[in-house]
Amino acid sequence: MDLNTYLTQLRRDLVLSVEELERISVAFQGAMAAGLAGKPSSLKMLPSFIGLPTGKERGNVVAIDFGGTNVRVLDAELDGAGSIQVKRMIRFPLIDDKAGYNYLNEKADAGQLFGYIASKVAQLVRPGVDYSLGHTFSFPCQQLSINKARLLLWTKEIKTRGVEGQEIGALLDAALVHAGLPRVKSDAIINDTVGTLLAAAYSRKNVDVASICGTGHNTCYLEPAHPLTGGPMIVNMESGNFDIVPQTRFDKALDAGSEYPGQQVVEKMISGYYLGEIARLILSEMSEMGLLPKSENLAKHQILRGADLDRILEDTGDLSGTQDVANRCLLMDKLSLEQRMALQTVITLLAQRSARFVASTFQGTLLHVDPELEKPHFIAIDGSLYEKMPGYAAWLQQALDELNPGALGRVSTLLAKDGSGIGAAIAAATAAKEARG
Ligand code: GLC
Repeated sequence: MDLNTYLTQLRRDLVLSVEELERISVAFQGAMAAGLAGKPSSLKMLPSFIGLPTGKERGNVVAIDFGGTNVRVLDAELDGAGSIQVKRMIRFPLIDDKAGYNYLNEKADAGQLFGYIASKVAQLVRPGVDYSLGHTFSFPCQQLSINKARLLLWTKEIKTRGVEGQEIGALLDAALVHAGLPRVKSDAIINDTVGTLLAAAYSRKNVDVASICGTGHNTCYLEPAHPLTGGPMIVNMESGNFDIVPQTRFDKALDAGSEYPGQQVVEKMISGYYLGEIARLILSEMSEMGLLPKSENLAKHQILRGADLDRILEDTGDLSGTQDVANRCLLMDKLSLEQRMALQTVITLLAQRSARFVASTFQGTLLHVDPELEKPHFIAIDGSLYEKMPGYAAWLQQALDELNPGALGRVSTLLAKDGSGIGAAIAAATAAKEARG
């Protein structure tokens, strides 16, 4: 088979027509309804016990933003008049090979992980000051109240022992006490999608959906009448786990070889952590068929990182940037122009498929809250794919427009950068106010 024929077949597997997007959005809407009603569904539809902010939330707060390898801790002040000042922020990794620690593998336990995070909080808070703490913890949690959340399972290939099944607020509180911080009170735990929604809705109207399109993928939305309370509540859908989607042989192979097969099916087709891996599987097949050179690196995990994919996507002319990535990551020097173009096509097809999948799940969400799409909706998004990947934001909007030819301009996306940390600060101030009455 020649390169062109291979790519034609690959397009058949990876290009999602508008009809397919519609089918996925209808299935997504069905899964939302089932999950909300407590019926079996791949959408967990987790209640967050918080609605949208009013802008009047105030106080000194500390926020922790933990959603992967890098954690941020911030000290912020909300003035009660819609403005938030981040006074200090520290950012630190939970894995540092040089320093000789890794709190995210199976050798580490809950006490070590949260102890390390608490030690960083201790570096930031001022002595003698009372703080409300908001914790963005971006993993699927069964929320019991605004400050109690039980980790259902780790995602993002994390394996720290003694955390799954535990109540995260209690683990953090114990670590804070141990670190000598009795004046820091853990008042709220939220998902990063919820933080992103809170942060965006704090300063803008008509934001009712928020999503992370980065290393991981997930979306939350404001449910106008939640079955638990009858009132508005943000729901963390854990939409990365949605599974009524057409998987290719590459997606199935990636899932089978991952830490948690069968979990986070769509996240493994969409998110930044996995896009390079799917590409690697496709390139391996091409190499085995003689369409690309052989390379021992094709057997190694995570050889193509987000920045490499971005470099290939933005490349033009004779595609020398693509050749650089091929040299460095794939150990393939001297590809022909045709092979470099094929490499760029593979990455483009995967990135477009990701953006279009995401759009179809947004569409399902919007139709759930506003079946006729009568109102304007902003979808706040954070994450490296949306922020940095060349073409991604435009493909996403284009797919939304294809799905809504009658509502052009009413459905828009916007970047909500670092909203998850700010959102934790807002959640802490909201919860503290409610607790004080
Ligand atoms: C994973 C987590 C989810 C989080 C998302 C984005 O899908 O399960 O909770 O929101 O990544 O960080």
